Order: sequence, then C-alpha cells, then structure tokens
Amino acid sequence: MKRSFIREILENTTNETISFAGGLPDAKLFPQEELKKSAARVMNDAVSLQYFTSTGLDKLKEKISQIYNNDGFETSKENIMITSGSQQALDIISRYNNNKSITIEAPSYLGAMNVFALNNMSQDSITLKEGGCDTFMFNTSFKKSKLAYLIPDFQNPTGYTYSEEKRKEVANIVKQYDGILIEDAPYSEIYFEKKYDSISKNIPNNSYHLGSFSKTLSPALRVGWIRASKELLEPLVAYKEAMDLHTNGLAQSILSDYLKNNTNFISHKNLIRKVYKKNMQIFAGFLDEILPEFKYTKPKGGMFIYGKFEDINSSELVNKCMEKGVVFVPGAEFYNNENVNSEIRFNFTHCSSNDIYKGLNIIKQLISKNDIKSA
Ligand SMILES: Cc1ncc(COP(=O)(O)O)c(C=O)c1O
Repeated sequence: MKRSFIREILENTTNETISFAGGLPDAKLFPQEELKKSAARVMNDAVSLQYFTSTGLDKLKEKISQIYNNDGFETSKENIMITSGSQQALDIISRYNNNKSITIEAPSYLGAMNVFALNNMSQDSITLKEGGCDTFMFNTSFKKSKLAYLIPDFQNPTGYTYSEEKRKEVANIVKQYDGILIEDAPYSEIYFEKKYDSISKNIPNNSYHLGSFSKTLSPALRVGWIRASKELLEPLVAYKEAMDLHTNGLAQSILSDYLKNNTNFISHKNLIRKVYKKNMQIFAGFLDEILPEFKYTKPKGGMFIYGKFEDINSSELVNKCMEKGVVFVPGAEFYNNENVNSEIRFNFTHCSSNDIYKGLNIIKQLISKNDIKSA
C-alpha cells in the first residue's frame, strides 16, 4: 500500500510552501463566528459532554435527511449513520465487505484505495473520462464484483462529473445485477453551474451514499455520514461501535446547533461556490497564460484541476518543484498499477492569486530548464 503522498506533503511543507497539493478548503471562508456561537451554546448544556448513540445525534440525522428530502430523495433519520468524516464511512463499509472485489474508477481517491487495500479487497479499475466512467467496462467489471466505488460529482482527483445519461446507465447496471454502489459525494454541493441528482436516488436500496461537512464547512469537525436503506445500515452499526463507539459528540452538537438556522448553511454554501468558481477561473487563466502546453478540462465544481503535459514526468517534476517550495500531486499517485507519468492534480481552493501566479511560474522555469525526463 502506498502511504498517502498528500499526507506526506502536508507533513513536509512549511508556511512558505506554495501548495497545490492537498484538498484543503480556504480557511478564510470557515464560518468561524457562527460556529463559535454554536460552540458556546452547546457548552452550556452538560448533555453535549456525555456519550452519544453510535449512529449519531438524532437532531443532526434529521437535518441531514432534510437535505436529501429537499432534493426529492426520500430519506428519514433511520437512513443516516453519522461517521467520523466520510473517510470512516469508507472504512466501515470496507471492513464489512473485506476480501471482496470492488470496481473503482482510474484514477480514483487515494484515501479510498488505501482503505480497500487494507481490507484485502481486490480493486478492478475502469477508465474514467470527463462525463463519467466507461460503462461498457463498468458493466463487465460490476457483473463479477457486484460492488463499486464511484465519485460522480467533481471527482477527486480529476474534477470530472458524470452526465445525466451516465448516471442512469450506472444505476441500471447496479439494478440489473442487484449489486451495491458506494457513491462518495463530498464535493456534490460545491457546484459552479448546477447540482446533479445522485445516482443513489435511482437505486436507494442498492447504494451507500456518502456525505461530509469537511468540504462545505470545516474538515476539523470530522463529521460525515452514510445514507442507505435500513437493511444496509443495520449490519454496519457493530463496526462503528467497535471502531470508536460514536462520532465526536461535541462536533455533532455544534453542527446541529449551526444547522438550526437554515439560512446559515445555505448562504455559506452559496459563498464558497462563488469564491471557488472564481478561484478555478483564476487558476485556469494563469495555466493558459503560463503553461499553455498543460492540457486539462475545466471542472464544473469541486476543488481540483486535472490534466497532463505531453512529455513530462510529473513525479520527477514535483521533486524538483518541492526543492523550490512548490508542490502538487503527480497523477501516478491515483492509480493502482497503470503506468501513468505525465498527469497532475492541482488544487485551486487554497492559494492566493499571487501564489498561483508565482507557483506556476516556478514550474514553468523548471520545465524550461529541460532537465525533467520525458514521461
Ligand atoms: C473523494 C473523497 N472522499 C472522502 C474524503 C474524506 O473526507 P472526510 O473524511 O474529511 O469527510 C475525501 C477527502 O479529501 C475525498 O476527496
């Protein structure tokens, strides 16, 4: 198993490093004042300091189910399990499915690939392009595995989004073989044009839909969730109990208080959509100006721009860049066995325009020195 390159980078960067590497939200946008008020209110109630139930705080589960119902996806609090970030949701589901095969996208989210590997799951990768996965490959793989992990909205690492047609096709295949889809959707609310219906909405009894407050509010809260049928959720509870008894109760109470005022979260999401869209446009503009040979597709949401140089080894490039105080993630990190050398993931939500300009110019200088081997 690869140690997460991204976490290694986070450990080795200083305040001076220009980092396009992590999936870090813009800290200036955290609703600090509102969360502070919620935290103060919560600390007035001793119950917030008590043990909680394993599946999570009822009030919070109700709020999350409301978000689904507002999107026309019928959900009750019994369909929700609160987890310590969506990362734990992946771990719980993988422990339950250990030793099984799983169909995944290539490239995919490294944190999920590592969880699958630790749980001895054999991963079958299918090609992902803008617009969605190759559904012929998906059909062939899923027919055997009957379990898939997809990130249909503004994927990590590619930023790609499944079209409405692909979503229907995937749902039909899952239904046809009566298998299970793990739909990971931490970026679904960070759309720049429109919100897409989840695939799970079409297959509510054949899916785990994973959500998180990490990208929309704050990752430090470590609050995510699984939306699934009661039958699918029920066997996961024992795993949750074994892992940590329950998700941090203070964080759940603070969130639940924050969400009491509906307009808080709605206006906050509108703000981050607006700012991140602008950031993406700035990053794309500088890429076109400074590194026109970098080919990429503009994402319709999320936090990442993904693309490639024709003949540059991006793993070598990042090592040189690190010496000059700039980091990004080479695409090779997001594949299991494929030999992919020239792809790069850039995060656009974390750096100032000045740093983006500076960082991309440093990359340009290193490339033009011409001592980076061909891919
Ligand atoms: C696709 C995907 N899934 C899950 C996670 C984990 O998020 P968290 O545990 O903070 O909710 C991330 C984090 O970057 C991610 O990109």
